[in-house]
Amino acid sequence: MNTQIDNLLQENRRFAPTEEFAKNSVVTSSLYEDAAADRLEFWAKQARDLVSWETPFTRTLDWSNPPFAKWFDDGTLNVAYNCLDRHVEAGLGDRVAIYWEGEPGDSRTITYAELTDEVKRTANVLAGFGIGKGDRVAIYLPMIPEAVISMLAVARLGAIHSVVFGGYSSDSLRSRIDDAEAKVVITADGAWRKGKVSSLKPAVDAALAGKDGDTQGTVEHVLVVKRGENEVDWSEGRDIWWHDVVPAASADHTPEAFEAENPLFILYTSGTTGKPKGILHTSGGYLTQAAFTHKSVFDLHADTDVFWCTADIGWVTGHSYVVYGPLANGATQVMYEGTPDSPHPGRWWEIIEKYKVSIFYTAPTAIRSFMKVGRQVPQEFDLSSLRVLGSVGEPINPEAWMWYRKVIGGDKTPIVDTWWQTETGAIMVSALPGVTETKPGSAQVAIPGISVNVLDDKGNAVPNGGGGLLVVDEPWPAMLRGVWGDPERYKETYWEKFGDKYFAGDGARLDEDGDVWLLGRVDDVMNVSGHRISTAEVESALVANEMVAESAVVGASDETTGQAVVAFVIIKQSHLDQAEKIADITSSLRSWVGQQIGPIARPREVFIVNELPKTRSGKIMRRLLRDLAEGREVGDTSTLADTMVMKVITDQVQK
Ligand code: WTA
Repeated sequence: MNTQIDNLLQENRRFAPTEEFAKNSVVTSSLYEDAAADRLEFWAKQARDLVSWETPFTRTLDWSNPPFAKWFDDGTLNVAYNCLDRHVEAGLGDRVAIYWEGEPGDSRTITYAELTDEVKRTANVLAGFGIGKGDRVAIYLPMIPEAVISMLAVARLGAIHSVVFGGYSSDSLRSRIDDAEAKVVITADGAWRKGKVSSLKPAVDAALAGKDGDTQGTVEHVLVVKRGENEVDWSEGRDIWWHDVVPAASADHTPEAFEAENPLFILYTSGTTGKPKGILHTSGGYLTQAAFTHKSVFDLHADTDVFWCTADIGWVTGHSYVVYGPLANGATQVMYEGTPDSPHPGRWWEIIEKYKVSIFYTAPTAIRSFMKVGRQVPQEFDLSSLRVLGSVGEPINPEAWMWYRKVIGGDKTPIVDTWWQTETGAIMVSALPGVTETKPGSAQVAIPGISVNVLDDKGNAVPNGGGGLLVVDEPWPAMLRGVWGDPERYKETYWEKFGDKYFAGDGARLDEDGDVWLLGRVDDVMNVSGHRISTAEVESALVANEMVAESAVVGASDETTGQAVVAFVIIKQSHLDQAEKIADITSSLRSWVGQQIGPIARPREVFIVNELPKTRSGKIMRRLLRDLAEGREVGDTSTLADTMVMKVITDQVQK
């Protein structure tokens, strides 16, 4: 490994928790010792402390048939009861569960007692549709309280939800409905986005009409929430308005207990090739780790904190840190329907001020777009309620980390950079805010009870200072239990490479302290003259340049070096205004990267563009940029948030 590409690891800023924060922290470093002394007993204790069991479990882990794990499998529980009724029974019925903020400015405050009633009514409605244990229900909803209510109502019945992100097309929805053989779809007429109603139900109608107007497949009923008030087509008998049936249903519903390994949800995630994988999660272990991490990683004081995770429920982050973690812990949280900049660029900061949000969890891509707009926007709002900030979804470059801490966190809040995946179900690698001395850009250490490692291609552990592939060594409670309907794909994708270790598909390095630095998906790692360089690493260097707002880097094939680094950058307007010659900017950025990382990482080309191709969840689609960099016809752009963007970029690059 070339030592010149170690600039990230030379990041030497450190931020220890303040004495005050450490003193009030819900966890201490003894948690690591407890977990190290007896890992299984540690998780059994978390499961007993954080989850209410109808039948207590006596077995913690059954790993007799790897890679198919069973956790707490002779115990029984009801997941929805854990998120709702038990808090009401404990006298917390009046506590706010959700402060919901609609994009046009309407809002709803929902207590635990109210949320419990709504879920019971909805469960009764779904039971009336014939939904019971093991049945699949597709949920295609915007960020409205009914999304949470629907998920919990399905869970309450022991059925399985498959949430499909509202930004997905009717084709994607149909393939997910078909793969899971869903009996019911829950949707809305429309939702507010960017100041107007965007319709949702037509996509369901199109999905159920099928390609050739064939049949509605396995779906018997569509339950429709009225939100957008837009006109919708109606299929009598199949379609039912939520407001016609849920308020009229009984709010009595006794939760049945299901075995700990009863499936809770399927969530589709794209693989490297082919159709999306339906990642399967089950009940007891998932809930334990979601609740444990939500409490310990965010230092949750449920009676005083206001938590806000900005993720959509269509992603795993929304499942674990909007629904199951916070609600199992009896937390109060904010849920927001719309986009961060509607109707003005300070909307998120206004919401933090309004609800006095104390714990805020978002993605680096969002942070970088706020950086681009400038600090004057957040500075107009009172953000002093914030005390913990979290990051998830991609490596956070040190400059974005520092901006997040300084501008949003008032230079006082700890930042937890949390590494995990749809497959892991819950946070796996993260600092603990009252315990860890944090380092900008590093996710740092496995949480207590989790064991990760970095291996070389042959499966040998790399020493500190080395780089390789991130693996999880030991089964964990919230791990995926498989790929829906495809046990072979589960084995092949995650377990074939290293046998008994879970292969995460991420590159990582260990610094001299043994802390983990994530380098992005291994398919995004470039190989330049035999040296491995992460696209994330070069992007981080570029964004550290004061001219650069955002960057995306790809490895393009090169006759001499195997791959070459090609960068696409968005330059801050103020620098473009200074009217330097474009050629000067690109050549200075090439040398900059050379200086920051080493000559080996110097981009062969730097293209200045106005936009980057992103998926609806904000991930940069490097594949398309690679096509462009390699002079190929640009591939399938249908999953882009804005399908026109590649044309604009192509025109700019070819200018
Ligand atoms: C990436 C999101 C660096 C990683 C929870 C992983 C991260 C993929 C981080 C999973 C992080 C997530 N630092 N990379 N803190 N968190 N990733 O399934 O490449 O949408 O494999 O789950 O996101 O994405 P997914």
